[in-house]
Amino acid sequence: MEQPFVAVLMGSDSDLPVMQATLDTLRRFEIPFEVRITSAHRTPAATHDYVTDADRRGCAVFIAAAGLAAHLAGVTAGLTIKPVIGVPLDAGPLQGMDALLSTVMMPGGIPVATVAVGKAGATNAGHLAAQILALNDAALAERIRAARDANAASVQAKDAELQAALAR
Ligand code: RP5
Repeated sequence: MEQPFVAVLMGSDSDLPVMQATLDTLRRFEIPFEVRITSAHRTPAATHDYVTDADRRGCAVFIAAAGLAAHLAGVTAGLTIKPVIGVPLDAGPLQGMDALLSTVMMPGGIPVATVAVGKAGATNAGHLAAQILALNDAALAERIRAARDANAASVQAKDAELQAALAR
């Protein structure tokens, strides 16, 4: 059986600098992924064709990121029953509030797991996809646990440094 992969979709190449955090996270966890620039509005037919084809080829989780009237995650969710993670991006004068509401306010029965606006959301989309795949992959679960432990250790080290500086 082919290894499950994550499909990362973004509405524009202008989304790539922020979405690099998703790609970095997936790489860090050694998760195979594909990445495509495809738009719910500008290239609707190509978006439909890619999502249905990736679904058929074994995509396990879709991550869809867009700014402004961000419908990419919602359209993707309407085309598949695989989990869809939506990343709202700050791409205009409303500073991501437009994309947040467009991504999160899905009608009943067609869920999009919406993460935070911007870079933290892009990072967390990678983490959430990893956690979904880890339900059936013990080695991946261990890598995620190790990353959590390293994250905690780094916070504790910074606190220890602060306490030492204050005591001087
Ligand atoms: C959305 O419109 C894209 O996801 C992007 O965040 C935003 C602006 O796109 P560009 O005009 O920079 O291509 O569809």
